[in-house]
Amino acid sequence: MEPTRQGIWSALESHSRRLASVRMRDLFVADPDRFASFSASAAGLLLDYSRQHLDAAALAELHALCRAVDLRGAIEAMYRGEIINNTESRAVLHVALRQPAGARLGGEDVEAAVLAERQRMLRFAEGVRGGAIRGSGGAAFRTVINIGIGGSDLGPAMAVEALRQYTVGAPGVGFASNVDGCGLADLLADADPRSTLFIVASKTFTTQETMANAQQARAWLAAALGTDAVPSHFAAVSVNAPAMDAFGVHPDYRFAMWDWVGGRYSLWSSIGVSLAIAIGAAHFEALLAGAHAMDLHFRRAEPEHNLPVLMAVLGIWNINFQRLPTLAVLPYDSRLGRFPAFLQQLDMESNGKRVSRDGEPLAWETAPVVWGEAGNNAQHSFFQLLHQGTPRAALDLLLGARSSCGNEAQHELAIAHCLAQAEVFAAGQDGEGVPPHKVHPGGRPVSLLLFDRLDPRTLGALVALYEHKVYVQSVLWGINAFDQWGVELGKKVAQGVLEWLRDPDGERAAPPSLRGTLSALRSLRSAVD
Ligand code: F6P
Repeated sequence: MEPTRQGIWSALESHSRRLASVRMRDLFVADPDRFASFSASAAGLLLDYSRQHLDAAALAELHALCRAVDLRGAIEAMYRGEIINNTESRAVLHVALRQPAGARLGGEDVEAAVLAERQRMLRFAEGVRGGAIRGSGGAAFRTVINIGIGGSDLGPAMAVEALRQYTVGAPGVGFASNVDGCGLADLLADADPRSTLFIVASKTFTTQETMANAQQARAWLAAALGTDAVPSHFAAVSVNAPAMDAFGVHPDYRFAMWDWVGGRYSLWSSIGVSLAIAIGAAHFEALLAGAHAMDLHFRRAEPEHNLPVLMAVLGIWNINFQRLPTLAVLPYDSRLGRFPAFLQQLDMESNGKRVSRDGEPLAWETAPVVWGEAGNNAQHSFFQLLHQGTPRAALDLLLGARSSCGNEAQHELAIAHCLAQAEVFAAGQDGEGVPPHKVHPGGRPVSLLLFDRLDPRTLGALVALYEHKVYVQSVLWGINAFDQWGVELGKKVAQGVLEWLRDPDGERAAPPSLRGTLSALRSLRSAVD
């Protein structure tokens, strides 16, 4: 570690040791107005980090770390379109995808291309939604099935569920992702081919899971309506035009992506077409506007008031200095049920790295293991462990002030539960007369993210907040957040396994470590039901 950074790192270690004997509730005793200094807001989100186990001195040191690594320079490098994804020689410009006209993010050409493609995609989405674009036999589309995986699935799937309020009157939108084809089969069982539109969402158009499902869907459609009907029932989003040609996607039904958009950052591109069909163009634009508001804040606000920077440094504090390797994300809104799954890819595929940008092994931990579940379900599932178990986790609690389904009376209950949990996680319960099995040690660090109501604008800001948090952390850890080489080896090995599985003599060619398992599976598969 270079000396300045080493010095700050050591200072943070000493802050951590010093604070180990200070209980979180004592921090509130020392400063009853802690909320005022340990909260910040932007773009409709309020971050209350008063229940994080640190004080102003430790926080100041974390900000010193930001300065030491020239965080501001790194943020500007991203906005200027520099090649910050060094192992793939790519710029990273998802911020350009949510820009309004005139913002010039990524330069004039990028802006023009983004705005033009956005308008094409939104026109198409409105056409499908309103029934102007129809199936081969003239039926309006009632079912839309997005076929994609990872970043080509998780963002739109999460957002369609989150924004369900805005989907009234739209075709039903479903998502098929896994390679086994069962998710797709379940959706097809309820679909009428005459009124079903498939969207093949794949940046590369080579992902095996997506291609297998797309071929299956094509066969299902062709069997019912004939091959000539296929172009009217398939749209696609990809950078790979030749592969879309080969699949037979009509030029008007295909939408472009760019190399400078990572899959997990692509919700804002035409990968969001299924979402745009579900919620309509105006609400999709509101989602972009919310994200853009967060982008402006991220670029301009001082680190001390900058939400993504604050969340990032709190994460560094918890992972590297409080030794809490996991982050539980707990939304107190059922409609954010898929948000933890979305964040898993965003955070762990981005920052799950073990070498620096220069390929040097790291001397520190990186990305948290992200997990979570809608808050009340989680209370009745794993909160026992969070309160009293030996493993400890950092916690993000997400809470709207108002209900996303209009049920304010029940939402009041959700608010009460969320705040009660935050309180107990931080303060705990012990002292005279409390038997050991009832002791809650407390001291579990909580960030509360509050917003008015889960609407498109808020969701856009929320997703952009986490995207930028992930980038800031990557800068502080010195890693590249935008490649994902760790997923490639498994894909390659799967090709070999498939060959061994299909070849009657395959076990002989397989490595010894796989032979027994292959042989067991083969006999199970050959057994007659
Ligand atoms: O999981 C690896 C990955 O490359 C992700 O980064 C990406 O979101 C996903 O596969 C899907 O890729 P594509 O959109 O090219 O099908």
